[in-house]
Amino acid sequence: MDKKTVRDVSMSGKKVLTRVDFNVPLDVNSGNITDDSRIKAAVPTIDYLLDHNASLILCSHMGRPKGKAIPGLSLRGVAERLSSILRQSVSFVPECIGHDVEARVAELKNGEILVLENLRFHPEEEQNDPVFSQTLAKLGDIYVDDAFGTAHRAHASIVGVTKFLPSVAGLLLEKEINSLGKVLLTPARPFGLLLGGAKISDKVALIENILPRVNYIIIGGGMAATFLKAKGYEVGQSLLDNAIDTASYLMQKAEANNVKVFLPEDVVIADVGRDDNWETVSIAEVPANKRIVDIGALTVSNYTRILERCKTVFWNGPIGVYEVPQFAEGTRALARIISSVNATTIIGGGSTAEIVTGMNLNGRMTFVSTGGGAALKFLSGVTLPGVEALLDN
Ligand code: 3PG
Repeated sequence: MDKKTVRDVSMSGKKVLTRVDFNVPLDVNSGNITDDSRIKAAVPTIDYLLDHNASLILCSHMGRPKGKAIPGLSLRGVAERLSSILRQSVSFVPECIGHDVEARVAELKNGEILVLENLRFHPEEEQNDPVFSQTLAKLGDIYVDDAFGTAHRAHASIVGVTKFLPSVAGLLLEKEINSLGKVLLTPARPFGLLLGGAKISDKVALIENILPRVNYIIIGGGMAATFLKAKGYEVGQSLLDNAIDTASYLMQKAEANNVKVFLPEDVVIADVGRDDNWETVSIAEVPANKRIVDIGALTVSNYTRILERCKTVFWNGPIGVYEVPQFAEGTRALARIISSVNATTIIGGGSTAEIVTGMNLNGRMTFVSTGGGAALKFLSGVTLPGVEALLDN
C-alpha cells in the first residue's frame, strides 16, 4: 500500500481521532448486535495505538439515519461491546461534535478510549461539509482511517477531516488493501470468482475489471436466473433485474477473454411468496408460476469440482435465498467447500462475511473482508476516496 500508516508517525502522547466502521448488523427486534466482526477487526489498530501511548477518539456511522438522531442507531451498545472485547473501560459520549464532546476529549488520558455518537445523526457527515469536518478534526492531533468498509464514501469523517489533520491508515485498512490488491494484481491461478446475490448491476464493473486475471466465473444467487434467461431458459417468476442484455454481454466478454462461465444445471424452485413448497428441477423445467430460490445438488457438485481446481477463490453474494433456511443449502455447501480448498480464499464483506461468520468458518478462510460495497468498488478498479485522501508514503 502506497499510503502512510500508523507505523509511520509517532503516536506517543497524541489524541488520535480514529474512523472505524462499527456499522454492525443489529437484530431487528432486540437491537442486539448479531455480528461483531467489524468491532473485532478494529482491535489490532486500537491495541497498536494504546501500546504506543496514545488516547483514542473512535468515530463511526451506524445504519442510514439520514441526518437525524435515531435512538436505535446509537453507538452506545457498540462502545459496550468494544469494552467487553478489549476487557478495558471504554467511555461513550452521546454526541460526535460540540462542547460536551470537546470537554470529554480534553479530559482523555493516554491509554483511554472514547467512542463518539453516530456521525450520520448529522446531515453534514454525508455532505462532506467542511465546517463539520474541521470541528471533528479539532478533537485530535492525528487522524487514522481504519474504516475500510466505508472507504468508498467521500464523507466528512473520511475525506473532509483529512484536510485538517495528518492522516494515515490503520492496520485493518492496510490489510484489506493489501489482501484485495493481491487478488487484483497477482492471484495464483486458476482463479475462480464465485458470484451470487440478487443484482448483476452491482457486479458488472467487478467482472469487467477482473476478467483479464480470472479463469472461472461461477454464478449463483438471484442473478443466476438472469444469466439462464440470457441463455434462452425459462426462469418462471424469478426476478430478472432488467439485465438480460448485460448478462449476454458479460458472457460474450468472458468468452473473448478465455474465461469459463459456469451456470446452474439444476435449481430449487418454490411458489412466489411461499417458502413451504419446493422441489429441485433441471434448469430446462422451471414452470412459469415458480421462482428459483437456490442451486440444486448436481450444481453444488459441479461447482465443488471447479472450486477444488482453483488456487485463488473470491466469493461475493449468497447463492440462494439465504435468509430462508431451506433455501440456504447451496450457500452453506459452497461456504464449506471454500473453507476446505487448498487455495487463497477471499470473502467479500457484507452478507457474505456474515454468512461465513455465522457458520464459524472465518478462521478457515485466507481473508474475510469487512467491506461489502467498498470491496466490490476496490475490485472494480475504482479509487477509494478514503484511501486516496491519506498521506502518500
Ligand atoms: C457498509 O456496511 O457497507 C458500510 O458500513 C457503508 O455503509 P453505507 O452503505 O450505508 O454507506
